[in-house]
Amino acid sequence: MKNKNKTVWSNRFKSKTSQSFQKIGSSIHIDKRLYEQDIAASIVHTQMLSKQKIIKSEDANKIINGLKKIKVQIDKGNFEFKEKFEDIHLNIEKALFDIIGPAAGYMHTARSRNDQVVTDFKLWIKDASKEILKDISLLMKNLLKKAEKNTDTVMPGLTHLKNAQPISFAHFLLSYFEMLKRDKKRFENNLNLLDECPLGSAALSGTSYKIDRTYTAKKLGFKKPTDNSIDSVSDRDFAIDFLYASAVCAMHLSRLAEDFIIYNSDAFKLISFKDNMLTGSSIMPQKKNPDPAELIRGKVGINYGKLNAILTIMKGLPMSYFKDMQDDKELVFSGFDTLKDTLTMSAELINSVYANKSNMLFMANQGHTTATDFADYLVKNKNLSFRKSYTISAKLVNFAEKKEKLLSELSLEEVKKFYKDLDKNVLKVFDVKNSMNMKKSHGGTAVNNVKSMIKKYKKEI
Ligand code: ARG
Repeated sequence: MKNKNKTVWSNRFKSKTSQSFQKIGSSIHIDKRLYEQDIAASIVHTQMLSKQKIIKSEDANKIINGLKKIKVQIDKGNFEFKEKFEDIHLNIEKALFDIIGPAAGYMHTARSRNDQVVTDFKLWIKDASKEILKDISLLMKNLLKKAEKNTDTVMPGLTHLKNAQPISFAHFLLSYFEMLKRDKKRFENNLNLLDECPLGSAALSGTSYKIDRTYTAKKLGFKKPTDNSIDSVSDRDFAIDFLYASAVCAMHLSRLAEDFIIYNSDAFKLISFKDNMLTGSSIMPQKKNPDPAELIRGKVGINYGKLNAILTIMKGLPMSYFKDMQDDKELVFSGFDTLKDTLTMSAELINSVYANKSNMLFMANQGHTTATDFADYLVKNKNLSFRKSYTISAKLVNFAEKKEKLLSELSLEEVKKFYKDLDKNVLKVFDVKNSMNMKKSHGGTAVNNVKSMIKKYKKEI
């Protein structure tokens, strides 16, 4: 009973751990999320020790059965995590002693918590990345569905938040599809980079036991073991890369949310949300506010914060393991939770958005958005340089502005004041739909382009 409450290092220590240290030193409330990975890695490690005849097979069997029991206990919520045993690794080891007795003492042969924690953490980040990849794919699917319905929905494309040129709502939505495609690659790149198993690096220098690191690496689903034991226990690049990929993805979601907030504003009225994506006001009865979009926009701050924190923790850390690194897990777990929530929310938000098509068309006509098309027409049909045509078109815009007319409202006579040799064919360049459909260059906004992109994207996901 006395041993039960002792730390593994108690024999070397003259006094008990300080209470305040225990409070900041213990990470069990955070790293208990690693229990599945910790148990899986311990089982494989034990199997390897037994295969290599480093421990007896009967002890190995006891250890493995005990670990499986602990997993069931934790799964069912029947496991008591203890702060005084610091972390998930020591909590599980202690529990193993309780269940199988002294045979538990053979489990920690040829390893250290230093290689153990980084192995568990890599395994966790692998699973988490796969989940994020699925969540991103769902959002991409929803974007694609919405885009399919809006290939000929014309809206004003903006630069500087000023009306620039007509585009389709589908083309706008698919710009986010591309961003998310790159986000997926960032997570996939990290999955490739981290695919080396640190287990067996022990404290920092490797071990004198005849272990089989290729066996443990393969059994845990890694491509190969890591090649330098010092780097193995000090490397947290995979956590940084995960948080970086998360931060960039969250930034994309934040931009999408902001676009939607602006388009949904009373000044723009280009899109609306279903009521399930809106909240009311406690005082203003008329209000319908896009809170989910605002939360998506804001949450990126958490993702940036976690990335900044881990980069700061790792900066200037000498080789090899230091306790500083223990906080890596809180950062990654919280970064993951935040991104997962915002991705799910974004996927729902896309489904609940609809285009106010007549407003979009009206707005696409405001701000002389086809002025470039007129200049291009002169270049193509009248052999003028683009700079010359640009000047003529600018003068036409000044005229329309003065007359308070849209470019499409000008008569042929009015247009001819700026370039004589024109016939009525020129007038179609002022039509915003025509403008959109003229943009047939690769990646342009023409309906047929966008339709074939949608076809291609559908095959990709
Ligand atoms: N809980 C520790 C962490 O997450 C495990 C490694 C502890 N190693 C040590 N030498 N104290 O970093």
